[in-house]
Amino acid sequence: MKKFTCVQDIGDLHAALAEATEIKNDRFKYVELGRNKTLMMVFFNSSLRTRLSTQKAALNLGMNVIVLDINQGAWKLETERGVIMDGDKSEHILEAIPVMGSYCDLIGVRSFARFESRDFDYQETILNQFIQYSGRPVFSMEAATRHPLQSFADLITIEEYKQTARPKVVMTWAPHPNALPQAVPNSFAEWMNATDYDFVITHPHGYELAPEFVGNARVEYDQLKALEGADFVYAKNWSAYTDGNYGKVLSRDRNWTVGERQMAVTNNAYFMHCLPVRRNMIVTDDVIESPRSIVIPEAANREISATVVLKRLLEGLK
Ligand code: CP
Repeated sequence: MKKFTCVQDIGDLHAALAEATEIKNDRFKYVELGRNKTLMMVFFNSSLRTRLSTQKAALNLGMNVIVLDINQGAWKLETERGVIMDGDKSEHILEAIPVMGSYCDLIGVRSFARFESRDFDYQETILNQFIQYSGRPVFSMEAATRHPLQSFADLITIEEYKQTARPKVVMTWAPHPNALPQAVPNSFAEWMNATDYDFVITHPHGYELAPEFVGNARVEYDQLKALEGADFVYAKNWSAYTDGNYGKVLSRDRNWTVGERQMAVTNNAYFMHCLPVRRNMIVTDDVIESPRSIVIPEAANREISATVVLKRLLEGLK
C-alpha cells in the first residue's frame, strides 16, 4: 500500500478484517517489519486516541516515532502559494513538507477542515500537499473530509459484535455546541457503503452530507423511524455541508440526543461513537454507561486498524 486516505486504499475488506484479527491475536507478530524505520506523525489539530493508538501501532511494528504538533513549537506555516509572507507565518508548507519527509519513512497527517472554503477543504489541499511533496507514503490521521483509521476501527468493532450477517447500522446526527467537520460521518458512510450492511443515515433537514459519501445509504429524516430495529446506533455531530451553509450549526435540538427514548425502538442496539463525546448533548449518561455501549472497545480497535495500515505501508516500502 502506498497511501491510506480512503476506503479504496485498503482494498478487499474481508482481507483487511482477516488481517485485523491476525494482529489482534498477536500484536507483535510483525515487530521486525519496522526495525530502523521511522514514523512521523504531524498534527495540525488536537488528538487523544489517534495520537496514542497510532504511536502504539508503530511500537507494535518495531518502529521509531517522531511527533510534531504544528501549533506547539513549530514555525507557523503558510499553506497558500503566491502569498507575500510578510505576516506572522515564518515558513511555507512547501519547504516544510519535504524537510519532514527527509527525516522519516512514513508520514501520518491530521489536518481538519478549516471551514474557510468548502473547495479548499473538499480538495484535501493539505493532505494532498503531503502526498505530493513529502516523497513518503502518507496516511490520514483525520483529514478535512475523511477519518479512515476511525472508520476501519468502527468496521472491526461491528464485525466483532454483530449477531446477524447483515446488521442494521444507523448513523444519527446529534447536537453539539460547536461546528464540527463532516470527516467522521463522511468516512463512516463511505466504509458502511462498502459493506453489505443495511445502512441508514438520519439527520435534521439541512444536514445532508455530500452525495459522494451518502452513496446508496437510505436517508430518513425521522430519527425514531430510522432507529427502528437498529442493531448498531452510531451517533455523531456534524455541521452543515450544503452550499451557503457550509460549516454552520443549524440546530442544537436536544430531541436528537441519543437517550433511552431512541434506544428503546432499536433491536437492543449497541451504541457507538468515535469519541471524544459531549455527554447529554450527543448521548445521555445512561446510554453511554449502559452495557450496550461499546465506545471503549471501539476506541481500543484504533490500535488494531492503525497496526494493519502501518504494516501494509511498511510492506509497500520494499
Ligand atoms: N476518534 C478520534 O480520532 O479521537 P481523537 O480526536 O482523540 O484522536
